[in-house]
Amino acid sequence: MITIFLSLFALIFNNSEASKTEKVMKFELIQLPYASDALEPVISKQTIEFHHGKHLQTYVNNLNNLIQGTKFENADLETIVKESDGAVFNNAGQVLNHNLYFTEFSPKGGGKPGGKLAKAIDKTWGSFENFQKEFETAGIGLFGSGWVWLAADKDGKLSITKESNAGNPITKGLKPILTFDVWEHAYYLDYQNRRADQLKALWKIVDWQVVEKRY
Ligand SMILES: [Fe+2]
Repeated sequence: MITIFLSLFALIFNNSEASKTEKVMKFELIQLPYASDALEPVISKQTIEFHHGKHLQTYVNNLNNLIQGTKFENADLETIVKESDGAVFNNAGQVLNHNLYFTEFSPKGGGKPGGKLAKAIDKTWGSFENFQKEFETAGIGLFGSGWVWLAADKDGKLSITKESNAGNPITKGLKPILTFDVWEHAYYLDYQNRRADQLKALWKIVDWQVVEKRY
């Protein structure tokens, strides 16, 4: 009898623990599609480990805690970014932005885009090189922390946007295509204050196949 009671208790206790864990873990830290040292020397293993393992993990944890019991509890990430403000927006934005950022690189990256994205870039900026220059200039000119984006409107028209802090062009009805993180945490260990050097180097690891699919 006691054994049955204990088994029943264990079952109930485990179930409630499981559902609690599920709730807290709604959003999870995105897995990197490469080893933490694979992007060296453009991004060091140490920067990846802090940026992905510490900074992004904190945003994920904060978001999971903040949305509990709110109307965003069961919403997807893009909906939360579009409809929230304050701390929820800041953490959701940072999760979405970093998910896009970390998955657009590859140790075999670099070169130029192809297909319709390449054509649209040429049409808008004249050449890929001009686009790169303007993208870097936007990133260098962004005051404080934020993100520089290549974004597309519903007709596929491209633009470069600068977003402060956790901003993402989806809040303006645009589709995010490519982003460089210009928060100091993204480059300080490797480049110290030389944001421009980091932006220039990132082209060497952009996985254009991933980026083209977003367009
Ligand atoms: Fe970051």
